[in-house]
Amino acid sequence: MPADASVPYQRIEVAPIAGALGAEVGGVDLSEPLDDAAFTEIARALHEHLVLVFRDQCLSEARQKEFGRRFGDLNRHPFVDPDRQGRQDPEVFEVRHEPGETYIFGEGWHMDHAWKPVPLMGGILFAVEVPPWGGDTLFSNLYLAYETLSEGMRAALDGMRAVHAANPALYVGDPNLSLTPDQIDAMRAVHPVVRTHPATGRKLLFLHPHIVREFEGWTAAESRPLIDYLCDHAVRPEFTCRIRWRKGDVVFWDNRAVMHNPINDYRGFRRVMHRVAVEGDAPPM
Ligand SMILES: [Fe+2]
Repeated sequence: MPADASVPYQRIEVAPIAGALGAEVGGVDLSEPLDDAAFTEIARALHEHLVLVFRDQCLSEARQKEFGRRFGDLNRHPFVDPDRQGRQDPEVFEVRHEPGETYIFGEGWHMDHAWKPVPLMGGILFAVEVPPWGGDTLFSNLYLAYETLSEGMRAALDGMRAVHAANPALYVGDPNLSLTPDQIDAMRAVHPVVRTHPATGRKLLFLHPHIVREFEGWTAAESRPLIDYLCDHAVRPEFTCRIRWRKGDVVFWDNRAVMHNPINDYRGFRRVMHRVAVEGDAPPM
């Protein structure tokens, strides 16, 4: 059962940063093991606010992994080779942008790993080095995207399924990856268009623009106008928040209920994040 939103938090402080989603969480030092009361309230805050920002943290990779593991098994990215990054740990990968690069990892609105039958539950990024400006991340609330559709549209979408398939263009130029065309072809899964969140029981619009190719049983040409309409609707400014990163920030987002979009506007600067991700569940068909 979701917690009663009218009950005040006891162990942590939660300050919303936008009307739609996102909150700063205070009163927690993530370099220490989480006690059960803090864990329970952080999980509640994640379900209420979808994106949590913990400022001024000093987080080792081991502690970042321990924090993630409180929420589920950790993901090992199927295509990021830690050896290629000169690193050893397959559960922490470095999202690194060097001053001379133009490519950034994961550009454009998306959910992580929705091309798998079991998309990720959440992502946890720790800001190791940030540019003096730029490099913000946008998030959008997919509950609001669903709830603000007309009754007729919601009824039409209920029961529909969509084909999520990786877009090869998103992987061109990524220095961390060496994907073959066959591997990219295999990055494909079918999910319901309207997903019920396993923790909150609320319905949300489970779509994103670059990766959803078509609705099951529809042609790509028939699907595209509706996909574009729904994805444009889902990122209306009033459904979003924007995180301006500071060194030491930890951001934890619910990948089942938000899209995210890292902004490629910091050429000439280095930006380094450590990413841990938590495995999720298969959306019930
Ligand atoms: Fe992503």
